[in-house]
Amino acid sequence: MANPSLLILPGDGIGPEVMAEVRRIIDWYGEKRGIVFDVEEGLVGGASYDAHGTPLTDETMARAQEVDAVLLGAVGGPKYDVLDFSVKPERGLLRLRKEMDLFSNLRPAQCFDALADFSSLKRDVVAGLDIMIVRELTSGVYFGEPRGIHMEGNERVGINTQRYTESEIARVARSAFELARKRGNKVCSMEKANVMESGILWRDVVTEIHEKEYSDVELSHMYADAGAMQLCRWPKQFDVIVTDNLFGDLLSDAAAMLTGSLGMLPSASLGLPMANGRPKALYEPVHGSAPDIAGQGKANPIACILSFAMALRYSFGQVDEADRLEKAVDATLAAGARTADLLGPEGGTPISTAEMGTAILGALDASL
Ligand code: NAI
Ligand code: MG
Repeated sequence: MANPSLLILPGDGIGPEVMAEVRRIIDWYGEKRGIVFDVEEGLVGGASYDAHGTPLTDETMARAQEVDAVLLGAVGGPKYDVLDFSVKPERGLLRLRKEMDLFSNLRPAQCFDALADFSSLKRDVVAGLDIMIVRELTSGVYFGEPRGIHMEGNERVGINTQRYTESEIARVARSAFELARKRGNKVCSMEKANVMESGILWRDVVTEIHEKEYSDVELSHMYADAGAMQLCRWPKQFDVIVTDNLFGDLLSDAAAMLTGSLGMLPSASLGLPMANGRPKALYEPVHGSAPDIAGQGKANPIACILSFAMALRYSFGQVDEADRLEKAVDATLAAGARTADLLGPEGGTPISTAEMGTAILGALDASL
């Protein structure tokens, strides 16, 4: 069988710095675990604009459609602020998401024990937390028509439309149920069926898909506002949460911050299954290109490393190896390794991006 294929797009700012540490981990899997990836590297964002005058070439777009998974660093930076909207670095990322039709956005909220005191919540509320928010990413109120601002009489009116088709709800629901089967086997669907017709349809369709295809998974429903309260009160009651684009935007940001730093947060965006049965997939850290620290070796590579762990789990079927990598990160933090973003008010001595990579490789070696 052919090796699993991975397209790496480091991008701009700290993107290449954190991706260099992921490359070392990929090499480790080849050398120590015999898991060899066909890795190719490409340009995206400002880096692509500098070389080709476009934030994503047609060739790179085509490769992204063909590989088993894409791993992206970050795009953007002040140097590109003057560019026309049509060639801004962000457009490269948006094109990838749109043309790959990545409708299911996965944002985990996971608490590493060593960072439990970093949270704004009490240790026992967050310690051991491991939940996944699945946000619908390509429809809903950010895309619905009609939209715009117009005059009515002598005042302006702003309009956006929440619109969901059955098939759009069904595919993201399937994505959530599939994930739940690989995790805690529990899905909580959140909408506002009490006040929104799109929410009534959402609840109906999720219930139908569950009855017909996923009755082995435990399903519950919650109004999204109550869900927000429950996330703060006792987040460990959840395993997978599935929700629409708008509620998911808010809930995933809130859930992520239950556990700490932007430098720790991975994400995945999944599309429809490919011929190999696995979904089209783009993995990327939640953070941006961090121009304020770029080029200084200060960036925390963990968000990007954990994004690769998600790729192992969801694109490459290497669930045990994903566990191994996450545990190696946990052990590294437990041993006290901290990049600057992970130092609390009491301070301490930060390590560099490369030193964090080395420490995680050491923990991987120790896991054998
Ligand atoms: P940002 O996420 O780049 O940085 C926000 C703050 O968090 C900065 O102080 C930064 O130093 C820190 N930070 C971020 N990642 C870190 C890491 N791995 N380790 C340590 N500290 C880290 O967001 P910002 O400043 O709003 O945007 C900067 C540029 O990145 C802009 O051009 C923006 O458009 C772009 N951006 C790109 C994204 C992407 O590629 N997906 C997402 C967000 C922003
Ligand atoms: Mg947001």
